[in-house]
This record gives sequence, C-alpha cells and structure tokens, in this order.
Amino acid sequence: MTTKIIMDTDPGIDDAAALTMAINDPSIDLKLITTVAGNVTVDKTTINAQKIVRFFNAKIPVASGAEQPLFKDFEDAARIHGESGMPGYDFPTDLPKPLDKTAVEALHDEIMASDEPITLVPTGSYTNIALLFSEYPEVKSHIKEIVAMGGALGKGNMTSAAEFNVFTDPDAAAIMYKSGVPIVMVGLDITMKALLTHESIQELPQISETGKMLHDIIVNDGDNSDKGIAMHDVNTIFYLLHPEAIKTEDMWIDVQTDGPAIGETVGDIRGAYHDGKTNAKVSVDIDAVEFNKWFLEEVRAIKN
Ligand code: RIB
Ligand code: CA
Repeated sequence: MTTKIIMDTDPGIDDAAALTMAINDPSIDLKLITTVAGNVTVDKTTINAQKIVRFFNAKIPVASGAEQPLFKDFEDAARIHGESGMPGYDFPTDLPKPLDKTAVEALHDEIMASDEPITLVPTGSYTNIALLFSEYPEVKSHIKEIVAMGGALGKGNMTSAAEFNVFTDPDAAAIMYKSGVPIVMVGLDITMKALLTHESIQELPQISETGKMLHDIIVNDGDNSDKGIAMHDVNTIFYLLHPEAIKTEDMWIDVQTDGPAIGETVGDIRGAYHDGKTNAKVSVDIDAVEFNKWFLEEVRAIKN
C-alpha cells in the first residue's frame, strides 16, 4: 500500500535528503514537488529540486511557488545551506523544466484530481499552503493530513522561541494550524534529537553514487555539532514510514505572529485553554538509533 504525497519544499540540504527518500521508497508515491522561498530564494530552491529529480531521472513534476512570505520580510538560511542552497556535488545540468503553472495551481490540480486523499509534506515555510487554502478552500477535504517539518515546543533555532520554517512565515503557519486539516508537527523537539551521526555520514560514500551525493552535500550543512548533523526534513518521511518510532501528543498549537516571540509554536500542553480541542499531533520523542539505521538502509536500497 503506497501513500500518495506532495512535498512543498525549500532545498536545502536536508530537504534534498528528504526528497531522496520520498522519490525512492516504494511505499511512497510522490506525485508533485512544489517549491518555496526559505533556505534560499525560490529560483534556487526550484533549481535544487529539479537537480534531485534529474539525479534520479524521476518523472515527478516540479512547480515553483512563493517568492516571499505573506507579510513578513524574507530572511534566508544561506548561512546554513550555502549560497546555492545545496553545495558540494556536481549535479547534471540538463534539468527538466518546471511546470508552467504556480505551486498553488499545481497543488490544487493534483489534490483535486487524485482518486484518494493526498498527504501534504511541507518542509519549508508554509506560504504556499496558506495561499492554497485561501484561494481554494475546497481542497481541505481532499487532504488526508499534513506532516509538517517546523515548530518546537522547546527551544527554537532562529530565536529562543521560534523555528526557521514557522519564523519565516508565521502568518502562513497560523493559517495552516487554524485550517482544520489534520496536522502532524515534526518539530525541533525530535529533529534535534535524531541527528545523523558522523559515523553514519562517513558510511554514505561507500554505498553508492546516491550515498556519495548525500555525503557531499550533507557535510556542508551548517546545522552540525560533534554529535552529528540535523536532517530535520527527513524526519517527515521517517514518520510516514515508521510512525511507531516517533511519539506524538495531541494538543492545540497556536502560532505567535508578532512581538519578540514571533514564529513561536505555543502548545496547550495541559489541554486547559481550548475546551479540550486539539489541532495537531505534536512529535515529542524519537528513536534516534532507529532513525540512523533506517537512513542508511534507505540509501542502500536505492539502486543507481
Ligand atoms: O528549522 C529547520 C528547517 O529550516 C528545515 O526545513 C531546514 O531545511 C530549514 O528549512
Ligand atoms: Ca526545509
């Protein structure tokens, strides 16, 4: 049984690794890739998405999306992902053309044409998702769930309060969390726990050309420590394939859209302030050893 998904993404080194798993795992049917400004500008995130599609000769359409957040000034993460957004490997240059429609139009058309509800997997800011829901609210009932990388109950990574994807476009995140569509929040609480260890990273080049490509880009990721490198976005695909390895708690999530805590995801952790209502399954713990094992198994299973 395969899960039909659309990834809305801002490659981005960890986005590229997540796309690699989604494109190649037989349990996932990646129908469309849409891009958004985030780690770098949207022209670059789109080229990077096309590079990954071309690397695997995948027949998956790419549609370019929002250049700016809804209201907030755009601030990239080139200090983490490099000026190109995906440095370190010589990808093929004969890239497939992106779709001649916007990300929002492509999302609408793919979701409404699907014979079963689609899972949305945003791994950048949620600007395209917010625009989609505002322009085409009818798509909501055709979405199975949103498995979103972003947010944190604990410490942020842009400020002590805010994680990058939510911080980049807090107004879009607020629209998504108020949409009524079921959400799984894959936040820093688990993505900073399940680091890809340096031992795992060093194994990659020996596996295959895919392993070498992932190694060569991942070693440039600025989100690193002596314990390993954060593969934030890959955790969304790990959740889809191995939900048993991630502990979630149902709660109401609000998004702060102004003030010094702008971009904070505020969890009603005691269920005390929303009449018992919840709008998200929030990831609170993960089997980090299992994540590393799975990451390497996924790469070994890719024939190229
Ligand atoms: O905070 C981590 C998130 O910000 C990841 O999606 C990473 O790719 C960056 O976009
Ligand atoms: Ca990302």
